[in-house]
Amino acid sequence: MPAIGINVGKARQVREMFVRIAPSYDLLNHLLSFNIDKLWRRRVVELLRDVLDRPSAEALDVCCGTADLAVELGRQVPTVGVDFCHQMLLIGNKKVLQSNSFVYLLEADALSLPFADESFDAVTCAFGLRNLADIKIGLQEIYRVMRREGRAAILEFSQPVIPGFRQLFKFYFHHVLPLIGGAISGSLAAYKYLPSSVEEFPDQECLAEIMRRMGYQNVRYENLTGGVAAIHLGEKR
Ligand SMILES: C[S@@+](CC[C@H](N)C(=O)[O-])C[C@H]1O[C@@H](n2cnc3c(N)ncnc32)[C@H](O)[C@@H]1O
Repeated sequence: MPAIGINVGKARQVREMFVRIAPSYDLLNHLLSFNIDKLWRRRVVELLRDVLDRPSAEALDVCCGTADLAVELGRQVPTVGVDFCHQMLLIGNKKVLQSNSFVYLLEADALSLPFADESFDAVTCAFGLRNLADIKIGLQEIYRVMRREGRAAILEFSQPVIPGFRQLFKFYFHHVLPLIGGAISGSLAAYKYLPSSVEEFPDQECLAEIMRRMGYQNVRYENLTGGVAAIHLGEKR
């Protein structure tokens, strides 16, 4: 059941969009990012290394989609991946079965996670937060299910910080990417939504401030590929 006051319309639209693009999602992710998205997800795991190395550590990947990050985490520690799009999870499940990882996938809403408070040492969310109908409730849920001394890592598109590169990237993101993404996936709308949702999403500093206000401690972020994406880290003490 959605939390009270949530924009149910946005949630439904987002889920339907991922149902449509699920079959081409992985191909386009890797193609449109020139495979750099794989390095970004690996960096998330590196930044959680000390937490994952703890005895009996467990991880949760929220908005896990086709399970790329969940599989990376699941090579280190038992990991649960959660997503509300069945079609994305079906593709993810095939990947899990072919991998050497310990991952359990679950169909559930990130805004109402079906876990008790303080259940996981590491909680991740890759390219999911921006899609949530309510970012703050998403961050609140991540914080709630995180154990004390645990760490959250949010990987998301952000604002490029290098002048010149910023303009070049924006041209690619707004004009080239929707054409290729639209042609291959058959959903131009989905690949127009991507850049516009990034424009509306808080930039690096803003997201860090939101996390601090929500109670996350030791909040910091690392820019990836000149700020095209960023990983925000926050802890629960
Ligand atoms: C851009 S994909 C990211 C998938 C994956 N984490 C990755 O790195 O490729 C965003 C995912 O968020 C999921 N999602 C969006 N809102 C959600 C919600 N409220 N609860 C669970 N999953 C959600 C979508 O179904 C989609 O699979």
